[in-house]
Formats: sequence, structure tokens, C-alpha cells
Amino acid sequence: MTLTPVRGGAITNFPAGDRYVKLAASERIQRENPIMVRQDYQTVKLECENGIAWIILNRPEKRNAMSPQMHREMSEILDALEFDPQARVLVLTGAGDAWCAGQDLKLFFRDLDDKPEESARAHQASHYWRWGKLYMYRKPTIAMVNGYCFGGGFTQLVACDFALAAEDAVFGVSEINWGILPGGFVSKALTEALSLRDAVWYTMTGETFDGRTAERMRLVNRAVPRERLREETIALAERLMNLNPEAVRACKQAIKSVRAIPADFAGDYLTAKSAELRFLDAEQGRRQGMSQFLDQKTYRPGFKPYARPMK
Ligand code: ACO
Repeated sequence: MTLTPVRGGAITNFPAGDRYVKLAASERIQRENPIMVRQDYQTVKLECENGIAWIILNRPEKRNAMSPQMHREMSEILDALEFDPQARVLVLTGAGDAWCAGQDLKLFFRDLDDKPEESARAHQASHYWRWGKLYMYRKPTIAMVNGYCFGGGFTQLVACDFALAAEDAVFGVSEINWGILPGGFVSKALTEALSLRDAVWYTMTGETFDGRTAERMRLVNRAVPRERLREETIALAERLMNLNPEAVRACKQAIKSVRAIPADFAGDYLTAKSAELRFLDAEQGRRQGMSQFLDQKTYRPGFKPYARPMK
């Protein structure tokens, strides 16, 4: 394993085989130590800086189309980062001028047409990281859409908690253009994020749309000029890192879970989830917040977070 220091303030301990070499213990340690980045993934580049893990799909010559190897590598990376204290927010982006051109038509589809077992494995890995893992990931996730997003790319786009796009990014549910339907999980993911009218329109026509239209449809939170995309992403990540991480995780899981739960059960689920948060929250945010507002009168929770003790 090769570890390369990059500018910043953390030790990032990426897995050697299946396990971590070292694990830094706290946000303070993270800020005071140099970042180390593993270099030996072939289809994904990983950079960790100041708490942000930049996960970069890295097949720019193929517009970051997803090969079976990319699915395996992404599955391993997401598993590893989920419990790495150095990675506090994940940003998913693409190398070059594409975010992700969908599944690799050759490596993921045609080459595996006569290999059912390999194909099944590739499909499993593909679903595992893009939806199984990302949708309920324990840490905040941001899709930073820097260019083309086609077909299968929509699954991880919707699975991420937030999406920021370049205004001139190009999106397309292009399956219809080569005579298939948006399979895998794309159709389901699309209906999570789009109105029925928009989902049907773009799925049935294959028409492309830009980042501004994606923002209008609420497929992405915000579209910004390309030159501001990275700084806007960092600003959002820093905002999230200032918040109680257990509460951020619980909020995400609660909002996403209640979408699928009948109203009769949602109340009970949310009561249980709140109890879980109070039990797991090492910094006791609820008590801190109440005390700082009611007793110390040092802040107004309507406008900003309480001062965190461990920062
Ligand atoms: N699968 C396999 N190879 C791809 C894919 C893909 N999804 N997308 C791009 N490539 C390859 C091209 O074959 C080409 O390879 P080559 O240099 O060996 O010939 C290389 O990437 C560059 O592609 P170009 O078409 O030359 O690049 P350009 O910038 O002009 O266009 C674009 C980019 C629009 C993304 C175009 O490549 C394209 O239409 N790709 C397919 C997009 C798509 O329909 N994806 C959905 C797949 S279906 C699914 O995901 C379920």
C-alpha cells in the first residue's frame, strides 16, 4: 500500500487489505496531523482534506462510466470510510468533464451477457454502494455534479443527501436511446426525487437537461457556475461538520425512513429514533442546547447550533 501525504490537517488511514492501519481518535487529532491518501485504486481517486473525503470516479477517458471493477472499489471505499473518523463528510464527484456516464456499456453489460454469475456479482456490487450503502450512509454525502450524468449515474445522484451541480452540467436518462428501460434502480431512484410528470417525460423521451433545469426540478439542491462548484461544496460540507454528527445522521435516517413507513407507525418509529439518538449522542447535544438557551442564554437555537463541547 502506498500512502501519500497531501496538504491539510488529518491522518487518513485507509485500509490495508480489509483493515485500517491506524485510526485517529478525534476531530482535534484529525486537524493536527497530515493526511495520507491511498493511491492504489484504479478506477476511483480518494483525497481527504479537513474532514472532507473527496471520492472521485476516475475513468475520465470513458467519462467515468461504471465498470464492475469500479463497483467493487467503491463498495470497499464506502465500507472503509463509514467508520473512519477522518472522513466526516463525503463528496462524490468525477474526474475530467464528466460526473458519471452511467454503466459501462461494454464492461458492465456486453462483456457479461454470457457470464451470468459475473454479471450477477457486478449487479450486486453496483446496487450495494450506490443505494444500499449511500442512501442511508452514516455520514452526510454530497453529489458534486461537475459534468455529464447519464443513466445509471442517477442512482447515486439521488442516493446522496445533497446535490450541487454546475449550471452547465448535462443530465440524461438515456436508456431509451439504446432501447432499454432505466433498470437497476434508476426508475425507482428517479421517482424518489422527481415529480411523476418529470420522471415520465425524461425517461420516455431521453431528452437532456442542464444543471439549472435540474435545480428547477429539485433533482439537485442548487446549480452554480462551474468555477464556484467546489467552493460551494466545501461551504456546505463545513456547515454540516459544525453540527452534532449523531444528530445529523439521525435526521437523515429519520426523514428518509418515514417516507416509506405508513403514518400509523411513523410516530412510534420517530419516538424510538429520538430515544436512540439520546442514548448514542456522546456530547449530549439535547442537554447542551437546552442549557445554553434556557440557562446560559448564549444562543438562539432558531438561528444557529449550540456551541459544541468537543470542537
Ligand atoms: N459505457 C461505455 N463507454 C462509454 C460510456 C458508457 N456509458 N460513455 C462513454 N464511453 C466511452 C466511449 O465509448 C469513448 O470510448 P473510446 O474513446 O474508447 O471510443 C469514450 O468514453 C469517450 O466517449 P465519447 O462519446 O467520445 O465522448 P463525448 O465527450 O463526445 O461524449 C457522452 C460523452 C455524451 C457521455 C457519450 O460518451 C455518451 O453518450 N455516453 C453514453 C451515455 C449513456 O447513455 N449512459 C447510460 C448508459 S445505460 C445505464 O447506465 C443503465
